[in-house]
Formats: sequence, structure tokens, C-alpha cells
Amino acid sequence: MQNTSAISIKITKTNHSRIEQCDFNNIQFGTIFADHMFRVDCTDGQWHDPQILPYGEISLSPSLSALHYGQSIFEGMKAFKDTQGAPQLFRPADNWKRLNQSAQRMAMPTIPYDLFMQGLGTLVSIDQNWIPTKEGSALYVRPFMFATDDFVGVRPSRHFSFIIFCCPVNSYYPKPIHVKVEQKYVRAFDGGIGTAKAAGNYGLSMLPTLEAQQQGFDQIIWTDGAEHQYVEESGTTNLFFVVGDTVLTPALDGTILEGVTRDSCIQLLRSKGIEVQERKISIQELADAHQKGLLNDAFGTGTAALIAKIASITNNGNRMELPPVEQRKISNLLYSELEQIRTSKIPDPFGWVVKV
Ligand code: COI
Repeated sequence: MQNTSAISIKITKTNHSRIEQCDFNNIQFGTIFADHMFRVDCTDGQWHDPQILPYGEISLSPSLSALHYGQSIFEGMKAFKDTQGAPQLFRPADNWKRLNQSAQRMAMPTIPYDLFMQGLGTLVSIDQNWIPTKEGSALYVRPFMFATDDFVGVRPSRHFSFIIFCCPVNSYYPKPIHVKVEQKYVRAFDGGIGTAKAAGNYGLSMLPTLEAQQQGFDQIIWTDGAEHQYVEESGTTNLFFVVGDTVLTPALDGTILEGVTRDSCIQLLRSKGIEVQERKISIQELADAHQKGLLNDAFGTGTAALIAKIASITNNGNRMELPPVEQRKISNLLYSELEQIRTSKIPDPFGWVVKV
């Protein structure tokens, strides 16, 4: 990793590794946790007591302000092994940057680069045996920060904790997903917290997603809050569509999460001379393209999902079937190249991969 000024991290390793109990061939996303975690606390803007300790329970007071008022943000990133078995991370500085953007929006303290990177690097290095190597798998890394004041008045907390833990994972969506265009609920609006990776953005998605699942869909496509006409995100991912040979993705207009995978896809496609337009995309435009036989691909992108291929899109009961996944030029290309870059099976001309 990039040279940073050394931070003294207290390290307490577990005497009881759980790695032997992990069946790496049969991992359900987010259910198995690696042996250690990194923790550092903050009081009045000063970070103190960074430590690595065995993964385990933390004690919380019932009046913990994050639980009541939602000052809580997180990131998602992944660690891989290169072809020689050495651990590496994919674009960790981008996650650090976005975490701090989220922190600023939620009136939380930002975390210094050195502290984030050294906590992360030390943790991944200690738990590197937990990095799975099967295609499509990774060590999912979850940094998060939350307010820890024991106080039920509404004001920014004075105390915060920042923790990173890791879990070995396979693909988030094992098969192409059927999505419903959301016409009732809204994820984000101008001036809201749509660009922040705030816990509340995920909490508010539970009911709409559950309702869609009860109707037989896997996920929803969020639309704009004003008219429900323009697509924004899908579930936990950014969105891409291929109309003819042109790749379309909603512009970052203040309501959409600035996905690291989204940006990687755009850079990768443009480097191959493929046109990517970042702009408003209406449901009507997609329906017209579909009717003309031009809607060639649709997929979500995210750290957990990587590339989530969309099998069908349903808007107000009208279902658009997408071409069979084997025929999808763009999503197959992106999946294959990103998968190979992050495991160093092919060169990384973008400087995305960072050795631990
Ligand atoms: C990620 O892709 O890292 C996400 O944030 C998805 C997560 C909510 C499972």
C-alpha cells in the first residue's frame, strides 16, 4: 500500500480461529465473519486507541444515539488474492474518500487517510487466509462508523466508533434478476442523502423491496422523486443499460450513490472506445428502445454484486424481457475484465489494484 506515516495499532489476536469451520465452497453472503476486526474511537473530532481485536460483540447502551437518529454510515469494498496468493484491495482510496463524503453529509467526523489505510491493511493482512480464491468470490470488507453518545437529545454526537470487519463472500446475486420499476416509494430527492452511504438509505428500501418480492420480483428500480419517470438505482446497485451500441447510466445528479464499480465500468468501457452516456434516462426511453429491439443489456453494478444482470424490467405491469445473458456483450465483458483485473490475472492499466 502507499507509504503513510506509521500509526501505532494495538494488536490482540484470537487464540481460537474459526477458519476451519468455514466451508469456502458454500458461503452465503454476509453470514460468516473473519477472525478479527479493526476499531478506533473518536471524541470531539480526535481519533484514539486504534486496535485490532478478535471479531465479536460490542457493548452498546440503549441510549446510543446512532440507534435512535441514524448517524451511521458504511462502505463496502473487497480484498482478493493475486495469482501468487498475495492479498490486494480494489480501489480502497475511493472508498475512503466516499466514506468521508458520507461523514460530512451526516455531520460525522472524517477519518484520516493514514488511519483508514493502516487499519484496513493491517486487518486484511492478519486475516488474509480468509480471502477466498474461487472465481467470483472475495473477502468483503465492511468499514462503518456510528454515533456513540449516550444521549437522546437530537444533535450531532460527540463520540463515534469506526470499525472494519470482513466476510468471505460469493456473488451477491447468484442469477439474473427480475426488477420492478418503483412507482410509489422514493429513495432520494434533491438535497437529501441519496449520495451518502448512510444506513437509513438501506433501511428505507426494505419495505418497497419486500413488497416487490411478494409480487415475484427480485429487486426494484428506484425512480426520481418528482415524477417517477427517470431511473436512478436498483436495490444495492447503480444501473446501466445498453441501447444499440451505446451504454447509458444515470448521471450523478445529487441523488445517486457514486459507485466505485460504476466508475470502474465507465472508465473500462471508455478505454475500449465504447460510448458511455451519463445522463437522465426515462422509463419511456427504455420502453421505446425495447419495442424497437434495441435494449440489448441492462445490469446493476456494485461492490457486493459486481455485475448484476437484469433478466426483465416491469413497469406498471408491462414486462420487458432482456436478451439471454450469454448474448450480452457489455455486461459479460465488464464482468470478465473486472474479475481478472482485481485478481491480477490481466494487467491493471488504471492503477486500481493496491497490494496490502
Ligand atoms: C456494496 O455493494 O458494497 C453494498 O453496499 C451492498 C450491500 C448493502 C450489501
